[in-house]
Amino acid sequence: MKRALIPGTFDPITSGHFDVIARASQLFDEIIVAPAASIKKSPLFTLEQRVALIEEATRDLPCVKVASFDGLLVDFAKEMGATAVVKGLRAITDFEYEFQMTAMNYQLSPELETVFIMSPPQYMYLSSSIVREIAQMGGNVEQFVPACVNRALKEKYATK
Ligand code: PNS
Repeated sequence: MKRALIPGTFDPITSGHFDVIARASQLFDEIIVAPAASIKKSPLFTLEQRVALIEEATRDLPCVKVASFDGLLVDFAKEMGATAVVKGLRAITDFEYEFQMTAMNYQLSPELETVFIMSPPQYMYLSSSIVREIAQMGGNVEQFVPACVNRALKEKYATK
């Protein structure tokens, strides 16, 4: 059984994240999507809300499970029995940050493999932060996020 972890903040999950999860689900037997608590980033959605949105967005992908974590990624991967970490790569700006994390994770846990999946062109410049900004200013983000996230963003900003 080949199990991979897809970690991230997922604040909220976008269509770009979903694309990476769907592609990874073709490559591994089981995928655990792992939203990090990420307190430092003061997320818009609570950890519970991010978990619920990922669960709803991925409910048609049977090999995908969702489990949040708060601590080192390498420790969580070991705890979950995952042998690989999958990350999406978008524009060149992602490289430095992703390479640094991958290099450090290799030092901490040499047996944990990191696999990058290239984003297709339509998601190259898509990020949760841009989606939040557009939604906050009343823009339509329907094409950038799963339907459940579009609804959640409307509710979030209607009550703010
Ligand atoms: O979606 P993001 O914000 O790019 O996700 C970053 C995340 C959560 C994958 C990264 O910050 C992480 O792995 N955090 C867990 C803490 C950890 O292991 N830090 C050391 C990484 S070298």
